Amino acid sequence: MDHIEPPFRETYKTLLHKSDGEEDEDENILMVEECDLPLIDLSQLNVERDKCIKQIAQAAREWGFFQVVNHGVSQEVLHILQDEQKKVFHLPFQKKIEDNFLNLSANSYRWGNSKATYLRQVPWSEALHLSLTDISRMDECKRLRSTIEAFVTVAASLAKSLAEILSQILDIKSTYFQENCPPNTSYLRMNRYPPCPFPSKAFGFMPHTDSSFLTLLYQDQVGGLQLMKDGKWFHVKPNPHALVINIGDLFQAFSNNGFKSIKHRVVSTQEVERFSVAYFYCPSNDAVIESSCNKPSLAPVPAAVYKQFSFREYQQQVRKDVEATGDKVGLSRFLL
Ligand code: OGA
Ligand code: NI
Repeated sequence: MDHIEPPFRETYKTLLHKSDGEEDEDENILMVEECDLPLIDLSQLNVERDKCIKQIAQAAREWGFFQVVNHGVSQEVLHILQDEQKKVFHLPFQKKIEDNFLNLSANSYRWGNSKATYLRQVPWSEALHLSLTDISRMDECKRLRSTIEAFVTVAASLAKSLAEILSQILDIKSTYFQENCPPNTSYLRMNRYPPCPFPSKAFGFMPHTDSSFLTLLYQDQVGGLQLMKDGKWFHVKPNPHALVINIGDLFQAFSNNGFKSIKHRVVSTQEVERFSVAYFYCPSNDAVIESSCNKPSLAPVPAAVYKQFSFREYQQQVRKDVEATGDKVGLSRFLL
């Protein structure tokens, strides 16, 4: 049988060796608390809108992360998406690294982290990073393409509604998203986390914040996603009906720290593989992100915290930092 797995062990042999005995220095990454993330029933937006918006406000402020049900993506679409995602990642590794894999643009497929200088920087995972243009070119896999399209259509409109609600909560004028986030500037990432022989040494995805305005995620039932709250890591219990929503860096800057982009990570599992799909709600590259300030609800932060920057500048900075150190620095690069 052709191998589906990327050559993690061979490639990171030196880093693995270097990490021997390291796990005791760090916190035990497998010992975390369970949390019940706020669960918001979006059908209530049409019934008791103000009450539902209050729940969203509280969840966004307290957690920066929440789950939503009645989000508009059917269970059927979610099931087929997982099924098709599995098929794609189960293709031979040699095929996945081919130049024209699924007709996608270069570098759509990622595994590990070639810039890593220590094992904790290596995501024990593989991913397909898809722009809307990429998706429209996936002619080989019609079922995958049409399912992704169904998912993205709902995700796009949900992300926009949520971004507008969050702006409204902060008293920020909300035509911004209409003007700066056309449907084709967001993207999708499909993740596969292979079983990892050293779950206490290598993350599925190291601690990070997302560079988006918002991220919408669907995870399977395996579990492994954790978020940081009040200095502690919490495990996000999978819910087959829910999408996980989190605030990204751009919303933190845009809201002048009104909402925080929460650090999260994925821990590896030894026994089974895990899948997730993330939709990153992003603006066009030229869109300027400017801290909204002087809003009554944002006191006591009257002055802008961040410089104005374009999404292009943000991405370039992230890329530069990752190239240089293996890690993203993020928003602190743009502090005034
Ligand atoms: C991401 C991410 C979490 C997961 O892709 O940015 O945080 O559960 N994924 O796969
Ligand atoms: Ni993330």
